[in-house]
Amino acid sequence: MIEKTSRIPGFYKLDIEERLDRVSRFADLSRDEKESFLKDGKLSLAIDKDIADRMIENVIGIYELPIGIATNFLINGKDYLIPMAIEETSVVAAASNAARIARIRGGFEAEADEQIMIGQVQLVNVCDIDEAIQSLLRSREEILRIANDQDKVLVSLGGGAKDLEIRKLGEDEMLVVHLLVDVRDAMGANAVNTMVEAIAPYLEELTGGKARLKIISNLADRRLARARATFDKEAMGGEDKVDAFLEGYRFALLDPYRAATHNKGIMNGIDAVVIATGNDWRAIEAGAHAYAARGGSYKPLTRYWKDEEGNLVGEIELPIAVGVVGGAVSLHKKAQICRKILGVKTAKELAMVLASVGLAQNFAALFALSTVGIQKGHMELHAQNIAVMAGAKGEQIDEIARRMIEEGKIRLDRAKELLEEIYGAR
Ligand code: MEV
Repeated sequence: MIEKTSRIPGFYKLDIEERLDRVSRFADLSRDEKESFLKDGKLSLAIDKDIADRMIENVIGIYELPIGIATNFLINGKDYLIPMAIEETSVVAAASNAARIARIRGGFEAEADEQIMIGQVQLVNVCDIDEAIQSLLRSREEILRIANDQDKVLVSLGGGAKDLEIRKLGEDEMLVVHLLVDVRDAMGANAVNTMVEAIAPYLEELTGGKARLKIISNLADRRLARARATFDKEAMGGEDKVDAFLEGYRFALLDPYRAATHNKGIMNGIDAVVIATGNDWRAIEAGAHAYAARGGSYKPLTRYWKDEEGNLVGEIELPIAVGVVGGAVSLHKKAQICRKILGVKTAKELAMVLASVGLAQNFAALFALSTVGIQKGHMELHAQNIAVMAGAKGEQIDEIARRMIEEGKIRLDRAKELLEEIYGAR
């Protein structure tokens, strides 16, 4: 019986099979689940062709990404191994490293709101806007009833349409009705879109207007997740490193050009887990960036300050609309296994994990940028990628990469030359 901890020093040094073994034991994966990643030492496909063919239109194949495991995460006292599907070098290592430092002072504390999504109905050509608002308010219960008739299962689980909000836009140009729906453990787009389409004819009747767009809002600001962690100043190399970090953070506070990159780094981590768990990463991206601009100018999604001992404290808050049931989440076998590896049971728990990963990723990027720079960490894997592109195989990859780093020439033409010089390969 191995200890159930995500702290696995040297995980990166194991080979793929050994890593999968450790993860399988941690998450109690069945042989079948394990083999869906790797069978007889070979990587296996994420989804079979019949499922792919039904998932989207005009399918010609399946596009794969590597899945890596971020280690060391301790969130609300629970250990998590975090699957990340991403093509970018260093993201998984950076998240693991940040989580290792956060762990020294208790890991991440995270929380998430109830899973409320907003559905919008746009009403145009309303003659008397104020009278229309009164009429909508008087019929609130009936509107909610029509919405809830569309999804008895959701209602039986305690979810469903809970409230209305009415907004005027422009100079009395249009009315917008927000339907607030508790989507429980789903992402919720299907449920909400069905409901707003169902209530639209009744809203037309009540207001005398025309219901034009009926669609979910991806600015899911009723569904926020937050995480906080303290990063130990000694582990960061001293208080001057904390100060340098904070200067780097100030840059993002003052400048949208920098804030965009700062937030991109956050989304490196969040998207990778969102993809691994079969969720809609475009929805998460849209929500995050709209939330970052909510005050009228684009801002970082994280905040940092020093505690009284000089340690760095970081906090993140952003909308996270993800599900653990429904849609691709239920069709995609590997997404289901990734969720099992994560050990998350609810959408709320997944949202808390995602917020923690976003904070970890941002800490790692700013820490690297404010000290050694970002390229150093990238170089090793980048050089290995170039070596593979040049045709290196097995042990040749490390050797060619090492030589290119030593020479400070990490280029495809040099990798090809080295391959020929050392191994006589053409
Ligand atoms: C690269 O994918 C992400 C970073 O640019 C994020 C940042 O600058 O904070 C390193």
